[in-house]
Amino acid sequence: MSKPFYITTPLYYVNDKPHIGHAYTNILCDTFARFRKFMGQEVFFLTGTDEHGEKIDKTARQKGMDSKTFVDGMVPRFKDLWVKLDIHYDHFIRTTDEEHKKSVQVILEKLYKKGDIYLGNYRGWYCTPCESFWTKLQLAEGKCPDCKRDVQEITEENYFFKLSQYQSWLVQYIESHPDFIFPVSRRNEILGFLKAPLEDLCISRPRARLAWGIDLPFSKDHVVYVWFDALSNYISAIGYPAKMNGFNALWPADLHMVGKDILRQHAVYWPIMLKALDLEMPRTVFAHGWWTMEGAKVSKSRGNVVDPEELVRKYGLDPLRYFLLREVTLGGDGAFSEDLLVERFNQDLANDLGNLVYRTTSMLDRYFGGKIEYENRNGSGSKLKTQALASKESMFSAMSKFDPRGAVLAIWELVTLANRFVEETKPWQLAKENKTEALGRVLYDLLESVRFIGIMLTPFLPATSAKISSLFAGTGARSVPTSQDLESWGLLKFGIEVPKGEPLFPKIE
Ligand code: MSP
Repeated sequence: MSKPFYITTPLYYVNDKPHIGHAYTNILCDTFARFRKFMGQEVFFLTGTDEHGEKIDKTARQKGMDSKTFVDGMVPRFKDLWVKLDIHYDHFIRTTDEEHKKSVQVILEKLYKKGDIYLGNYRGWYCTPCESFWTKLQLAEGKCPDCKRDVQEITEENYFFKLSQYQSWLVQYIESHPDFIFPVSRRNEILGFLKAPLEDLCISRPRARLAWGIDLPFSKDHVVYVWFDALSNYISAIGYPAKMNGFNALWPADLHMVGKDILRQHAVYWPIMLKALDLEMPRTVFAHGWWTMEGAKVSKSRGNVVDPEELVRKYGLDPLRYFLLREVTLGGDGAFSEDLLVERFNQDLANDLGNLVYRTTSMLDRYFGGKIEYENRNGSGSKLKTQALASKESMFSAMSKFDPRGAVLAIWELVTLANRFVEETKPWQLAKENKTEALGRVLYDLLESVRFIGIMLTPFLPATSAKISSLFAGTGARSVPTSQDLESWGLLKFGIEVPKGEPLFPKIE
C-alpha cells in the first residue's frame, strides 16, 4: 500500500481577511487532493494559519487588541471561507497551537545541541514610527519601504542557523532531483540564487522588541523568528516529534504548494532545516504564480483585493474554480478580471458544457420519453468513445505533470467534439425522417459522453460533476465518482432512464 498523498498549503497570515490569492492556493490544493482521491489514493490535506511575528503583532496593537485575542478573532474568517469554497482539508493547524509550539521548541533544541545554531550579531535598520525592522535588501533607496522615512541602523544579539554549512549539499540535492522544485524556471532561479554564498539565517528576535512569538528554548531574551516557526508546521502538524508513528505514516510530504513569493523559504530554508534534523525531503515544492490586477499583485497592501466570497455569491463556486484553474497554466501569473470570468462562464460553461448536457437529455426526453431504447455498448465506430478515452488519458497525464489547466482542456476536447457531433448528425432531422434507430444510437453516444464528462469533472468542478452524475443514477453512478467509473464506456443499458435535469449554467446577461 502506498502512503497517503500528503499535500500542504502555506499557512496564511491572519493580519487581514483572505482574498482571491489565498483562495487560489487552497482551490489548487483541493483540486490535487480530490484528484488523488479520484485515483483511489488516500490523501492528507493540511492547511492553517501563521499567527506570530511583527506584522500581526503590529496590526493587533493598531486595533488596540492583545495579539492572541486578535488572532483568535481572525482565524474563523479563514475557516469560514474554506467552508464556503468547499475545501476538503483534513487538518487545520494554527501556529499558536500548543503542540506546534512544543514541536518548534524541540526542533530548535535539537539543532542547538547539534551545533547548527549560534549566537551572533544581527545588523539591520529600524523605522521607529512603523516599529519595523528591515534588512539592507528590504530598504527602499535607504528608507523604510513602508513609510519612506529615515531608518536607524541597529545591531542586536540574535541566534543564527548555519544555512551556509548545508549549501553545497542543497545544490547537489536539487541538481540530482529534477522533481523537487517546479516549475523548471523557478528551479533555475533557486539554483542561480545558490551560486552566491548563502548567509546564515537569523532565527530569533529580541523579546524586548517583539514578544509575540514562540519562546526560544535556550534564551529567555528571545522569541523564534516567524518563518522558522511557520515552516515547522509541515512536520509538527502530523505529529513530529511527539507522535512519531503518525508522522512516519505521512512524511515526506508529496506536495508543498506555495506562491512564487515564498519559494526561497520553501526551497532553501526548509530543506536545510529538514536535512539538519535528518528527515527526508518533501517530494515536490511547486511555486504557483500570482493573480494580478492592472499589472500589480492582488494584495491587501495594494488595496486591490478581490473578495472570493463575493464571487461565489455572484457566480457560484464551480465557475470560480473553473476560471482559476482554466485561465492560467499553473506556475504562471494571471490577470484577474470579472469580465473574463463572465466570458468563460457564458462561453465554456453555459454554451459548451451546460448546453451539451441539457440538449442531450432534452432530446432523449423528447424523442424517447427519457429512456434508453438503442444501445451501442461496445462503442464500435464511435468517435466520441475514442475521444472520451483519449481525454481521460490526457487528463491523467496532465495532472501528473501538475497541469490542471491541461486537464480541464482535455475534458473540453470531448465537450467540443460532442457539440460538433450534434451539429453533424442533426438528431432533429433523423427524428423528422423517422430514422429511430440511428437517432437512438446518436443519443446513446452523446449520453455516454456526458456521463464520462461528469465523471472526469470530479476533481475540478465537484458540484457540477455530482449534478451530472445524478442524472445517471440508473447506471449505478456514485455522487463522488472515481477513476474506476471511467473504465468502461457503455454502462447505459436498454430501459435506463436519464432525466432531463435543470440547465447547469443559465447564461449571465
Ligand atoms: N505566512 C506565510 C507563509 C508561511 S508557509 C509556512 C505567507 N502568508 S501569506 O498569507 O502572505 O501568503 C500565503 C499564500 O498566498 C502565498 O503562497 C502567496 O503566494 C499566496 N498569495 C497571496 N497573494 C497572492 C496573489 N495575488 N495571487 C496568488 N497567490 C498569492 O506568505
